[in-house]
Amino acid sequence: MADLELGNFGRDFLWGTATASYQIEGAVTEGGRGVSIWDTFSKSPGKVTNGDTGEMACDHYHRYVQDLDLLAELGVSTYRFSIAWPRIQPDGSGQPNQEGIDFYSRLVDGLLERNITPVPTIYHWDLPQSLQDRGGWTARDTSYRFADYAGIVTEALCDRVSHWITLNEPWCSAWLGYAVGVHAPGERDLNAAVSATHHLLLGHGLALQKMRTVADAQIGITLNLSVVRPASQDQADVDVARMVDGNLNRIFLDPIFKKSYPSDLVSHYGGTIEEATSDDLDIIGQEIDFLGVNFYFPSIVTSRQNIDKARANGLYVDTSRQPNLIDADFDSAGVHRMGVKRTAMDWEIEAGALTELLVRIHDEYSELPIMITENGCASHDYVNPSGEVLDDDRVEYLESHITALSNAIDKGVDVAGYFVWSLLDNFEWAYGYSRRFGIVWVDYETQRRIPKKSFHRYKEIIAASKAR
Ligand code: FCB
Repeated sequence: MADLELGNFGRDFLWGTATASYQIEGAVTEGGRGVSIWDTFSKSPGKVTNGDTGEMACDHYHRYVQDLDLLAELGVSTYRFSIAWPRIQPDGSGQPNQEGIDFYSRLVDGLLERNITPVPTIYHWDLPQSLQDRGGWTARDTSYRFADYAGIVTEALCDRVSHWITLNEPWCSAWLGYAVGVHAPGERDLNAAVSATHHLLLGHGLALQKMRTVADAQIGITLNLSVVRPASQDQADVDVARMVDGNLNRIFLDPIFKKSYPSDLVSHYGGTIEEATSDDLDIIGQEIDFLGVNFYFPSIVTSRQNIDKARANGLYVDTSRQPNLIDADFDSAGVHRMGVKRTAMDWEIEAGALTELLVRIHDEYSELPIMITENGCASHDYVNPSGEVLDDDRVEYLESHITALSNAIDKGVDVAGYFVWSLLDNFEWAYGYSRRFGIVWVDYETQRRIPKKSFHRYKEIIAASKAR
């Protein structure tokens, strides 16, 4: 394998991997844990492929020591995990459940013993069901409950944790959860998604305020961002791409870095973002210490009126399914370019789009340090007769995206860390266990772990970067 150009990554660059509580922990009824919206959603017939749930997942709750040893073997300097809110507050408010805190405390100690910097995400989608019963993220009160919960975990761990992430991908919580309906809680209502967007951001801001009073730490938020391009220069396509970009990127970046919602989205959606007060926006736009970016694939969109033209131009448009609520609202459709490789999620692979995205954030929003808090791919992995998983596609994906990061650093972006999604194959939300993102294979029958070829390659890259 050719050597990568690692000259741009400083000695203290954070190389890591990421996971999330519901996707790996299992033990959903142990340790005093309450019910989350993902327990409820995954048990509802037809919501998750094969009826899979996170009940057992990777059994990480019991096997975390073995998983920490894998991290040590990999040589990472950091690990991003998430804290399950219903382990800390089973009903979403009130006194903390000590057993839940103890679990994450042991995890943090185990990381520190192995010289690995813990980076907890406070919310990676497991909202306590009791809060959902009171409106979930469409209720303003949930933002305040979130801040209380963030205060509790920060107080419990801040003597050992220096880096925190408030929310993971609020776009997915709000838009996949409340508009598209493919994530918990599975609602299909545009106004609900707009309101959830605002309350998630407000929750982030309120949490930040509370955490600053408790801890002197580096605190950020993780957004799933991408480049959104029109399928052609036709005005209808350009307009659609601008709205899709607004819904995915600007509706989060503007309030966080400019203390306002984008005016085109305010006039399009109205509702909660139109009514947002400047007090709320001041809370949301408080200073953060770094921005977390999850990047997977670029998006190319066409106006539905141009679908035939797009096809004539050699683009692939899947119209076999009903457009989701976001597409129906914008009259848009996602397209694929022929000849561009896709992952097992059907996501296009274009590493250069990561460079482009980071340069845009730097030029239009902020020069703050950026951490790539997730990047990786699902492949059609299998264990071969010699017991190995030779995931060359994933090796290529990771190498090209690390190179794209190096290019972004060349262009002046301050990139502070990179976390591969994911350490382990795990419960991939609506896809259940049918998609594998891990650099470690998990045999779900026996819970045996097998480091894949990508694990060994990433280990080499980290070692080479540290040795410089
Ligand atoms: C992101 C999620 C993460 C994982 C990857 C593939 O949207 O944050 O939990 O499912 O996608």
